[in-house]
Amino acid sequence: MSTYTAINLIARPGANGITSDLFEVVSKPMSQPGEGEFLIKQTHMSLDPAMMGWMSPDTESYIPPVAIGDVMRSSGLGEIIESNHPDFAVGERVMGLMGWTEYLVSNGQGLNKVQPGLEAEMVLSVFALPGLTATQGLYGFGEPKAGQTLVVSGAAGSVGSIVGQMAKADGLTVVGVAGNDEKCAWLTDELGFDGAINYKTDDIPNKLTELTPNGIDLYFENTGGPIQQQVFDRMNAHGRIIVCGMISDYTRAVPSPGPNWIPIIKKRLNIQGFAMPDHFGQIPQLIEKITPYVMEGKIKYRAHVLEGLESAISGINLLFSGENKGKLIVKL
Ligand SMILES: NC(=O)c1ccc[n+]([C@@H]2O[C@H](COP(=O)([O-])OP(=O)(O)OC[C@H]3O[C@@H](n4cnc5c(N)ncnc54)[C@H](OP(=O)(O)O)[C@@H]3O)[C@@H](O)[C@H]2O)c1
Repeated sequence: MSTYTAINLIARPGANGITSDLFEVVSKPMSQPGEGEFLIKQTHMSLDPAMMGWMSPDTESYIPPVAIGDVMRSSGLGEIIESNHPDFAVGERVMGLMGWTEYLVSNGQGLNKVQPGLEAEMVLSVFALPGLTATQGLYGFGEPKAGQTLVVSGAAGSVGSIVGQMAKADGLTVVGVAGNDEKCAWLTDELGFDGAINYKTDDIPNKLTELTPNGIDLYFENTGGPIQQQVFDRMNAHGRIIVCGMISDYTRAVPSPGPNWIPIIKKRLNIQGFAMPDHFGQIPQLIEKITPYVMEGKIKYRAHVLEGLESAISGINLLFSGENKGKLIVKL
């Protein structure tokens, strides 16, 4: 009988973060799809910062933690290689939650078909979680208006780079915050951002003042960290803060303190957190919104591709060290 490889979560991250002893690589007998099911060969797996939360024991988050002993949760893209389902044919590609596994059997629930001809890297970098998140956050809550100023943190990452490019295409002034000079140069020289701040080496208050002379109307928060207070201080009246992610706190035992709330009243700010699982029902509309930007060549992306299922184990840490250049993907 043929077998395939999967990776189970067997312990929760401690003070050392995500280490190889949290996982067990297992060999499983190949499953057969039953009636109304199909077998998927996963070809590309997405690695996302949220996985840190999914591994932790937090039961109050928007999604339950991965149970100890279960296959590690992740989204991905795969090809149907056997089918007993009337609506899913052999050769079609699907994306959705698949987990750290080479093969899986599904009844189709929670999976979406992938348009033929689209490159896998583009699908996972733009039309999957990053693009959907960017679009939901920016247009669902951000109310971007031409002429206004947007600052996005984690700007060279998969979500941030799409937020900035869509806002730029809509006529906003866009400033990105990233963790090294190469990423900052990519934002301004390749993506057309109006400015970029290296939060590790620049004088943040001075650079922010220089790049946002009219204040800030919209802040798309992906990271937290020192930039948060500085942006908060420059928010204009009726500004919007979209809280998408706080990666700088994901590995900290104690979260950093947030800004004082008095300016929220004085400036009548709107601060909105969101999590994509609440919006999975809107995926068709979100894809419809982002598609014209892609078709008009207004969205560039870069994918950071690792090879082989087991590369996920150490590879996920690239997201927290900032060593990923673009959407982190594992090619199986
Ligand atoms: N709300 C939702 O539903 C939702 C959905 C998807 C993603 N997210 C969130 O969106 C954010 C971006 O996700 P992504 O998938 O696009 O990841 P990404 O930006 O492609 O990769 C993560 C990046 O975060 C930056 N980073 C790591 N540690 C940092 C720190 N201490 N301070 C500041 N920046 C740090 C690094 O870039 P630098 O080199 O620039 O530091 C790293 O490359 C994450 O917080 C994620 O959790 C939320």
